[in-house]
Amino acid sequence: MKTLMLKVDSDNHEMAKIKVAAEIIQHGGLVAFPTETVYGLGADALNCDAVLRLFEAKKRPLDNPPIVHVADVAEVYPLVADVSKKAEVLMNQFWPGPLTLVFKRSINIPNVTVAGLDTIAIRMPQHPVALSLIKQSLRPIAAPSANLAGKPSPTNAQHVFEDLNGRIDVILDGGATKIGVESTVVDLTIDPPMLLRPGGTSFEELKKVVFNLKLHPFVESEKELPSEKVRSPGMKHKHYAPKAEVVLVEGNIEAVVAKIKALVELYKLKAVKVGVLATDETQKAYNADVVKSLGSRSNLFIVAQNLFKLLREVDADGVDIIVAEGVSSEGIGLAVINRLRKASGYHIIKAE
Ligand code: TXA
Ligand code: MG
Repeated sequence: MKTLMLKVDSDNHEMAKIKVAAEIIQHGGLVAFPTETVYGLGADALNCDAVLRLFEAKKRPLDNPPIVHVADVAEVYPLVADVSKKAEVLMNQFWPGPLTLVFKRSINIPNVTVAGLDTIAIRMPQHPVALSLIKQSLRPIAAPSANLAGKPSPTNAQHVFEDLNGRIDVILDGGATKIGVESTVVDLTIDPPMLLRPGGTSFEELKKVVFNLKLHPFVESEKELPSEKVRSPGMKHKHYAPKAEVVLVEGNIEAVVAKIKALVELYKLKAVKVGVLATDETQKAYNADVVKSLGSRSNLFIVAQNLFKLLREVDADGVDIIVAEGVSSEGIGLAVINRLRKASGYHIIKAE
């Protein structure tokens, strides 16, 4: 299959190109498109064959359902069994935006789209290209992140191309994504409601609206949880992993820097090629083969924006091991630290 790359300028909508992509969705094809979080790989959520192709293109396990994307709150109602007051408040306040809500599903949705679950995850993205694509397609779009399963999510069209060239119909190139980590997933089908995946909408912001919202233990977990404890199928799959081994060092910053310097020396003695994912404040401290800064510790939004791109870049430099600094878990930091822990396969060192 030849993958078509179409540049779309986010400001002037470029309807002609989006129409081409929407027709491909309507005919059961696969279209990668930018959202405000990461690039998604879209298929008609109501077409079983299209959704199966989606799993195949990503090599995604069939038990891990994609998020269904809508362009209007009204589109949610036919997809779900019921919309609670809480859901209405959250949709009003946070949509369009990086928040995914889990509802009880309706029978209108094919089983493959929800991986046989009795629930469905839905979000309204904030990116103009994503919204026009959904509107033009005249149907909800199932869209997991547009990476091969297990790899870091794509934050630009080049990342999508690297993973999926020849496996999908079109890539709409709308430039780099703004947020850089995926949407926050909140399960409203349980009481108390639970945050299953931290992301672009912070726990602190959500708590102001849903007072009894809890963090699923998995979110802050420092080790792999047994799969019977899992609520979101994606929790149990390996994620965000570059080719190189990842080691995460957490603790207060002086201790982290000292620990990483010692690790770098040790790896060098063993002739292991090492890359460090540092921050602006610390990057000069390291004498590793590759050192990249995620941004300043004083602005974790930038750190989130750079995270997946730099994981890919350090990997492309051919290092054997990537050592990453932990960050504060406040605000969007919770999503960053959660992705780093998963990328490391929970190889976490506590520096003291
Ligand atoms: O920001 C995002 O959410 C991006 C963009 C493209 O919108 N999408 C994304 O999709 O990250 P994906 O498929 O990579 O992640 C979806 C997550 C998975 O962890 C999946 O297990 C979970 O949502 N999920 C899907 N349906 C669910 C359900 N019914 N109940 C609980 N979790 C669900
Ligand atoms: Mg994903």
